[in-house]
Amino acid sequence: MGSTRLVHSLGILLCGSVLTVVYGLVDADDVLTKEEQIYLLFNAKRKCERAIKSKHKIAEGFCLPEWDGIVCWPEGPPGRLVSTACPDYVYDFNHKGFAYRRCDLNGTWELATTNNKTWANYSECAKFLGHYNPNEERRVHGTMWE
Ligand SMILES: *[C@@H]1O[C@H](CO)[C@@H](O)[C@H](O)[C@H]1NC(C)=O
Ligand SMILES: *[C@@H]1O[C@H](CO)[C@@H](O)[C@H](O)[C@H]1NC(C)=O
Ligand SMILES: *[C@@H]1O[C@H](CO)[C@@H](O)[C@H](O)[C@H]1NC(C)=O
Repeated sequence: MGSTRLVHSLGILLCGSVLTVVYGLVDADDVLTKEEQIYLLFNAKRKCERAIKSKHKIAEGFCLPEWDGIVCWPEGPPGRLVSTACPDYVYDFNHKGFAYRRCDLNGTWELATTNNKTWANYSECAKFLGHYNPNEERRVHGTMWE
């Protein structure tokens, strides 16, 4: 119910920050177009929604699995930090890193203190995006794709 709205807001939030940077990078080279990146995300979203639908009953008190606009979060045990690999379908992510969320003791994904939206830590994924410059990008692609 209320959580659907939160997920939606988070999608927009992420699209407005991480993904804008990603698209910026994608546009900067011609390896993968913005449209291709959106298509990959769309496919991942559908796959996630199918997986969630076909899931057996989720354990009592667990945080619910959900698509946040970038990754498919698994269900989370209460009181635990939950991690998921930075997805390889986001081309410019650091694919060796993980994204994190916290499931609180009530089985609710923890909110960010600043904005009342589901908190997630994508800093490992966005490791190469923060202080972006073209030379650095070439180096990053060189190590990851060649
Ligand atoms: C869990 O729920 C109770 C009752 O609604 C609330 O008082 C408490 O702050 C919640 N705990 C967390 C970690 O959110
Ligand atoms: C969080 O945001 C929702 C919708 O914007 C609002 O109704 C709610 O009061 C907010 N909660 C807190 C704790 O700020
Ligand atoms: C986010 O993750 C990074 C890398 O794992 C870590 O260094 C940092 O402390 C985390 N930030 C928060 C607020 O937990």
